[in-house]
Amino acid sequence: MTKKVKVGYIGLGRRGLGVLLRNVAKMKDVEVKYVCDLDDSRLEEARAGVLERSGHEPIMIKDYHEILRDPEVDAVYVMIGWTGRPEMAIECMEAGKYTAVEVGCADNLDECFALVEAYERTGSPVMMLENCCYDRREMVTYNIVDQGLLGEIVHCTGAYMHNLNECEFFKDIDKEGPKHYRLPLYRTRNCENYPTHALGPLSKVLRINKGNRFTKLVSVASKSRGINAYAARHFGADSEYANMEFKQGDIVDTLLTCENGVTVHLTLDTTLPRSYYSRDFGVRGTVGFVDEARQVIWFEHMGGHSCIAESVVNNEQEMFKKYEHPLYRQYFEEGIEDEGSHSSMDWLVNRAFIEAVQKKINTPIDAYDAAVWLAIGPLSARSIAEGGTAVDFPDFTRGKYLNREPSPRCKYSLDYIVDEPETPIH
Ligand SMILES: NC(=O)c1ccc[n+]([C@@H]2O[C@H](COP(=O)([O-])OP(=O)(O)OC[C@H]3O[C@@H](n4cnc5c(N)ncnc54)[C@H](O)[C@@H]3O)[C@@H](O)[C@H]2O)c1
Repeated sequence: MTKKVKVGYIGLGRRGLGVLLRNVAKMKDVEVKYVCDLDDSRLEEARAGVLERSGHEPIMIKDYHEILRDPEVDAVYVMIGWTGRPEMAIECMEAGKYTAVEVGCADNLDECFALVEAYERTGSPVMMLENCCYDRREMVTYNIVDQGLLGEIVHCTGAYMHNLNECEFFKDIDKEGPKHYRLPLYRTRNCENYPTHALGPLSKVLRINKGNRFTKLVSVASKSRGINAYAARHFGADSEYANMEFKQGDIVDTLLTCENGVTVHLTLDTTLPRSYYSRDFGVRGTVGFVDEARQVIWFEHMGGHSCIAESVVNNEQEMFKKYEHPLYRQYFEEGIEDEGSHSSMDWLVNRAFIEAVQKKINTPIDAYDAAVWLAIGPLSARSIAEGGTAVDFPDFTRGKYLNREPSPRCKYSLDYIVDEPETPIH
């Protein structure tokens, strides 16, 4: 067996602990050497959980610098909230560690440039764990696009449509009030704050930073009423959150233009009642489309007309099977146990990171990807503040996107379709 990857794991909140116990601690080629959090009970839960799953007892620490000083550690997971995270990730890279960070939104563009600068200076790969890049619909789409079945791509849609009032903000309340890390940001910022679940996979479809790039961004925001109205209904008209000022608009629409002429429409929709969670993933080409909202994948050569309802009834499951990405085919064949709705994509994105560490290759989601996706926050904030003006999108590669060194070919690649059944997924 190849040498185990030794991991230091920082941030044991809802997401961090979940990913640790459902994924990382169960991997036979990983040893979780450290678990780190400021909170004693979370540390204990992580220690016991890792021990139970792997038979190995991790060292519990509160100061993450201990991980960085340990030459045995190959990789660090940074799973804290958004504040202080870029600095922590850069410290990990400076210590020569492969670094994984969760999804999110930068406070300002300097953070994005600093991440790229740290990567270029240290050579330490950094991977945003954008799990939706490895979800089934998105991976089927990579396969379909690779086979040219959509023709020339012209327009894409993506969204984060998730009623956070009901599902997140007011679920975990103690005597100091709701604790969700994103809620305070809704008071101070007005921007597209959660673009990566849609934009990550779309960037891979559009080959952003690999021959193509975003050139302009325009954002507009609706007024902000949803949180106040929800709090008034649930906690009373005089309650604190019913009367608090929130800057974040309820609906934010963002348009991006690409150098190759493709447009992308992103929607953030998190504080009004809505019926279901959606990423509204859509790719429109000259001869076909992928449409999450209607659960349809359609190509002209299938016959019928896309504007006639009978031709485009929900056919996703059938099309998923027909155009399954080899990684998912193998995932299902290996019969990996299911642990909730995020299960396959969470497992796969974490395997992608761990295998890159094992093979000492760059990660399939790299520093330039992270910089572009994180930059949507500050760029959209500026556009909204200026009344919906078009702002220039920085080129974080400084021209290299036109002639990048090809990324490693491996089964977790998001640039090529690689079938590598000899390497197990678990
Ligand atoms: N990819 C996904 O599907 C998905 C889903 C949910 C959340 N997330 C992302 O996961 C991240 C974490 O979210 P969460 O809900 O777990 O947040 P959380 O606030 O529940 O947890 C953060 C944890 O980090 C710890 N922490 C903070 N600073 C620390 C420090 N200096 N040293 C050690 N520990 C520290 C806190 O004590 C806390 O336990 C966010 O970036 C979020 O956007 C991703």
